Amino acid sequence: MRVPYLDFSRAAAAEADALAAAFGRVHASGRYVLGPEVEAFEGAFAAFAGAAHGVGCANGTDAITLALRALDVGEGDDVLTVSMTCAPTATGILNAGARPVFVEVDPRTLTLDPARLPAALTPRTRAIVPVHLYGRPAAMDEIASFARAHRLALVEDCAQAHGARFAGKSVGTFGDAATWSFYPTKNLGALGDGGLVTTSRDDVAERVRRLRMYGYATRNDALEPGFNSRLDELQAAFLSERLLRLPEANRRRAALAALYDDRLRGAVETPPPAAAGAVPCHHLYVVRVAERDAVRKRLSSAGIGTDVHYPRAVHEQPAFASFPRGPLPETERAAREVLSLPLYPEMSEAEVGAVARALADAVRR
Ligand SMILES: Cc1ncc(COP(=O)(O)O)c(C=O)c1O
Repeated sequence: MRVPYLDFSRAAAAEADALAAAFGRVHASGRYVLGPEVEAFEGAFAAFAGAAHGVGCANGTDAITLALRALDVGEGDDVLTVSMTCAPTATGILNAGARPVFVEVDPRTLTLDPARLPAALTPRTRAIVPVHLYGRPAAMDEIASFARAHRLALVEDCAQAHGARFAGKSVGTFGDAATWSFYPTKNLGALGDGGLVTTSRDDVAERVRRLRMYGYATRNDALEPGFNSRLDELQAAFLSERLLRLPEANRRRAALAALYDDRLRGAVETPPPAAAGAVPCHHLYVVRVAERDAVRKRLSSAGIGTDVHYPRAVHEQPAFASFPRGPLPETERAAREVLSLPLYPEMSEAEVGAVARALADAVRR
């Protein structure tokens, strides 16, 4: 059985009418950027994420930049984050004018290890950007209390965590703001790019709104230098439709992930059980294997698509090699070993079984 790593075409028929109606609504309205569809989606997504405000923007990278700038983090400031993430986490920090400082991850959860925060502090540290990698919540209780104790801004990178929860609350509600990506592969994806900042601080919401559109306080009146980072009406309309089905899609992901856990037990290192109080949203199903690249090739020959998130840690990439960091052996080891298996709501149980069998074979050889 061939199993593609991702297959958007499987969801297409079921949502075709709803998305066509969304297109028709926007087309007929004559409003294409930052209009009523964006406002409606901002409200609906903020409610989903347990925040008072949602402010749409162009993508998840800009969301990080806008949130940091709205919290007065920029030139001359250091931001503690992880290297075990996608490059845009660091790009978003850099685009705000600040400097990323890479902190080691917990080897089990692959999220920021709070025990490493004290040693990573610099006199310039102003903020922390933890990442809920693969949809697994970072240890937000400890991270948030460290941020409070040291008066640091806290911006959660929730790009992979739509629907993940920690200590009974949505991720993204533990700090000053949270940032979201609606890149098509995310649990909630657009038909293109999109991003959003959630916050329960009125001042932060107002400033992100200003910064996303040229720094305008009112039309044609820029109060401060800003950006052009807007969400358009079409994407917002599509996202509103897809948001309705997100909880069910996340439940299906959880069921398929549990099936993988069961079928792969003893064959490879499966994702660790969620920490106490953490509810992941199963964005990616990531196992760890030695000789990952060889295993991946064998799976490909067997017709099984896989991916790697991410083959090089951020600090191992030339653009980010010069930024401060302590030793990151766990991050570097993970980058060599992680392997993402197909996981999407439209997969069948038989496909999960086929992937698990092929993987068990591939690691035995
Ligand atoms: C952890 C993480 N942060 C930030 C981003 C950036 O989002 P975008 O691609 O929408 O800019 C992504 C996704 O690409 C991501 O996975």
